[in-house]
Amino acid sequence: MAASSTNGIIDLLENLLKILKEEHAFDRSDDQPVVRFRYPAYLQKKMPISLDDNPASSSDVETAIRQTIRYSVKTSSPHFHNQLYAGVDEFGLIGSWLTDMLNTSQYTYEVAPVFTLMEREVIQKSLELVGYPLMPDGDGMMCPGGSIANMYGMMLARHEVMPQVKKSGLCSLKSPLACFTSENSHYSILKGANWLGLGTDQVYKVETDEFGRMKVGDLKRLLMKARSDGKLPFFVNATAGTTVLGAIDPLPEIAAVCRKESLWLHVDACLGGTLLFSEKYRYRLRGIELSNSVSWNPHKMLGAPLQCSLFLVKGKNVLHEVNCAQARYLFQQDKFYDVSWDTGDKSVQCGRKVDAMKFWLMWKARGKIGLTRSVEQAMSCAEYFLKRIKETTGFRLVQSHYQCCNVCFWYIPSTMRNQKETPAWWKKLYEITTLIKKRMTLDGSLMISYTPLPQKELGNFFRMVVNCQPPPTKSSMDYAISQIEKFAADL
Ligand SMILES: Cc1ncc(COP(=O)(O)O)c(C=O)c1O
Repeated sequence: MAASSTNGIIDLLENLLKILKEEHAFDRSDDQPVVRFRYPAYLQKKMPISLDDNPASSSDVETAIRQTIRYSVKTSSPHFHNQLYAGVDEFGLIGSWLTDMLNTSQYTYEVAPVFTLMEREVIQKSLELVGYPLMPDGDGMMCPGGSIANMYGMMLARHEVMPQVKKSGLCSLKSPLACFTSENSHYSILKGANWLGLGTDQVYKVETDEFGRMKVGDLKRLLMKARSDGKLPFFVNATAGTTVLGAIDPLPEIAAVCRKESLWLHVDACLGGTLLFSEKYRYRLRGIELSNSVSWNPHKMLGAPLQCSLFLVKGKNVLHEVNCAQARYLFQQDKFYDVSWDTGDKSVQCGRKVDAMKFWLMWKARGKIGLTRSVEQAMSCAEYFLKRIKETTGFRLVQSHYQCCNVCFWYIPSTMRNQKETPAWWKKLYEITTLIKKRMTLDGSLMISYTPLPQKELGNFFRMVVNCQPPPTKSSMDYAISQIEKFAADL
């Protein structure tokens, strides 16, 4: 691997392909560890991390590339269940590489003609999937992640209720604006309240039921409370697929409250939006079409390469109205083509990474039918895993029922079974959960994350996530169970 580009980029890429093969970068078999976990001091010593004045030799560059692959987590392993994303879809990856090679920004048709058409098509198809009006009555944009997509929802909601804030700022408001989201929702709503200058104290956290879904009665109570606190409610975030439990809030009921109270309803479908592909599961998101805006991350369950995130909204030209700054050096109005194809002023960003092509190519190559099939395969494996956890001695579910691709559980070692479950017993179980996690990571054979859920007064439990890529199988589900039993055998 040459350190400079004098050999030509094609030679470099050919060499890279050889290295990727030799280092098993995309190995989807069981043969390779999911992770070769090393502590930072080891990696700092082992790898040529420091950057120097002089160029590295070709062989040092090659070594660095090989080591990067070696010590990186193999999310394409069948035993990576640690995050709400996992392995990458092959067509998505090709789209991603092409995008990077062509290195351009999504902001104008002039520099991104094909990508502009692709983004538009991906947005149209996604609007259709959600049940929103198509362009120009619906609109959308690809964003750098679901957190930012959620912030777009908050921003548009703020503009709807107080358009003067764009010019005169929040100081022009008589009452603080209040937003509502469930206690199980993603923390990006809090971050959004911070970034938009609303203040995190203005985020009202709605209680959830035994399956982690927003309690609509509590939403109504908090709306009244906010008003009596002198605040102006403007935004409700409902989640379709919460981060830990995969819970889907009751969208039709929440939409009815929002309609009655004239509130903007945003649905954070970053995780659960992928279920819309399947006739078998899409009913779980019934009511999503009643919302004002939606965020959805094909980079989560579906397997699009990170980042691939959509913000979708009902209404003509709203994104442009809220975000436009009319920079004339970039968005000249007297161009020689129809400037409505320049999408950049709809965004808060200037340069915007092209995220459309990876998703477009996945959809093109697999068809909606292929994407549906992979969603149904993932969901059927998640259901199989749930069944196995229910039946297998020693495992206990955090809740009996899951709506998305997450399954949360504990493993109770034989020495702790049939005992009184005192606070000390639970403390020990939480510690055992972290110990099993440590063992599986150091062994490198399985990755499943753990988490507490303080709002439900629960300590650490495992959160298994079954994603579409690499296509999961019953045997990869069985393997996860047997590995946990193995790591806990002496506890
Ligand atoms: C429900 C939900 N919404 C939003 C996000 C944020 O998405 P991103 O990581 O793309 O910013 C997450 C991330 O896990 C999530 O679980």
